[in-house]
Amino acid sequence: PGAAPVADPAAGRRRLGATMAGVPFERRSTVRVGIVGYGNRGAGMIGHFLSLPGVRVNAVCDPVRDKAEKAAAAVAAAGQPAPAVYANGENDFEKLCARTDLDLVYVATPWETHFPIARAAMLGGKHVGVECPVAMRLDELWELVDLSEQTRRHCMQLENCCYGRNEMRVLRMAHAGRFGRLLHGAGAYNHDLRALMFSPTYYEGPWRRRWHTQLKGDLYPNHGFGPVAMYMDINRGDRAVSISSFGTPALGLAEYRREHVPSGDPSWKETYVGSDRTISLVQTALGRVIRLEHDVSTPHPYSRVNSLGGTRGVFEDYPARIYLEPDHTDDQWADFSAYAAEFDHWLWKEHADPPGAHGGMDYLMVYRLMQCMRLGLPPDFDVYDAATWTAPVPLSHASINAQGAPQEIPDFTRGAWQRARSGVDSVKPA
Ligand SMILES: NC(=O)c1ccc[n+]([C@@H]2O[C@H](COP(=O)([O-])OP(=O)(O)OC[C@H]3O[C@@H](n4cnc5c(N)ncnc54)[C@H](O)[C@@H]3O)[C@@H](O)[C@H]2O)c1
Repeated sequence: PGAAPVADPAAGRRRLGATMAGVPFERRSTVRVGIVGYGNRGAGMIGHFLSLPGVRVNAVCDPVRDKAEKAAAAVAAAGQPAPAVYANGENDFEKLCARTDLDLVYVATPWETHFPIARAAMLGGKHVGVECPVAMRLDELWELVDLSEQTRRHCMQLENCCYGRNEMRVLRMAHAGRFGRLLHGAGAYNHDLRALMFSPTYYEGPWRRRWHTQLKGDLYPNHGFGPVAMYMDINRGDRAVSISSFGTPALGLAEYRREHVPSGDPSWKETYVGSDRTISLVQTALGRVIRLEHDVSTPHPYSRVNSLGGTRGVFEDYPARIYLEPDHTDDQWADFSAYAAEFDHWLWKEHADPPGAHGGMDYLMVYRLMQCMRLGLPPDFDVYDAATWTAPVPLSHASINAQGAPQEIPDFTRGAWQRARSGVDSVKPA
């Protein structure tokens, strides 16, 4: 992994295929999935794939053989045939990606491996769904866009927070015009990960903490950016055009280490470059402003902030509250649940209590993706969304190094952003 390049490597790039915006999956009764990475996330997600009718997990991969075999055991326990197991080193994913019996590769590995695995999956003819963030560098984001267009395979950031109940309700209210004309939004990943990042057992090695020695800025923008981008139809009528980022000093990890980590631990050789809290402002083509925050190294309760404001009112989450004209006129926050019956998304009406972690949104994302693949619908989000939502990783680093100077967010759609089309706010299929 390396630090992010500053200049937009799109300049002079030759487009290799037509747009993938709105391109449907080929219809298929059974979706055949390969799982790459069986750590915390992969083990949490496999059950969603296995629980759905018409989904087969045909191959699993993790260089830690014990984990790969646990993945295979989970498939067998679900009553499916034993999957192929790839556990021969860091590059065995290439063999999985070359198989001919997979339609989708799901990638839940350390960040630095997302790009090579996504690339191999598309070159091997598979659609690919990648955990956050989809890649770490701007040139890699462009290469994923180019490869998706060239191979006609979708490369999707599996941005599960877009499927949260509150997020989907706000999305539908925004699209129904209840906030008036949209002006501003905010999203964050404020999640105290200090104990997990220094745990010798939680992650497979220190990969996540190591990124804090390499990049400043917002290392994990997707959970905050994705939902707000959907509210504002980013890449579907509006576009994110620039980002300015400011970072605090990086003190939290070293302070935690001093108090909790025995001297002699390898982490004592590391220098954290920060920032503890990064605050970014994204400007859109229609002049709207999106505030992004990232903080995983100081104490505070979990928050994705999640807010949206327009000419008719405002929503703020954590805790959820709303103020909308003409419903509210007393300058007091009101109860957001009052809007559930009218504005809950059809996925949440169909699944009142979805299973699994994160309040059920992981399940709904997998359910919806498998539905789109089986029915031959376009995905709710595509490579342009993946690249846009991830662009703050390299660009916040570059902006902080330039004292907050705005960095251009490339138009990964090459103009297609001006066309309105559906996203996570889908219509229930007949
Ligand atoms: N969307 C979400 O809500 C959410 C939640 C948790 C984690 N994540 C993301 O999931 C990913 C994995 O996180 P985690 O907590 O499971 O980490 P982890 O360290 O527990 O698991 C990563 C796994 O990938 C395996 N791996 C490493 N290199 C590999 C390679 N070359 N080929 C195949 N497998 C390889 C490791 O052996 C390990 O089992 C990260 O991108 C993380 O940001 C997303």
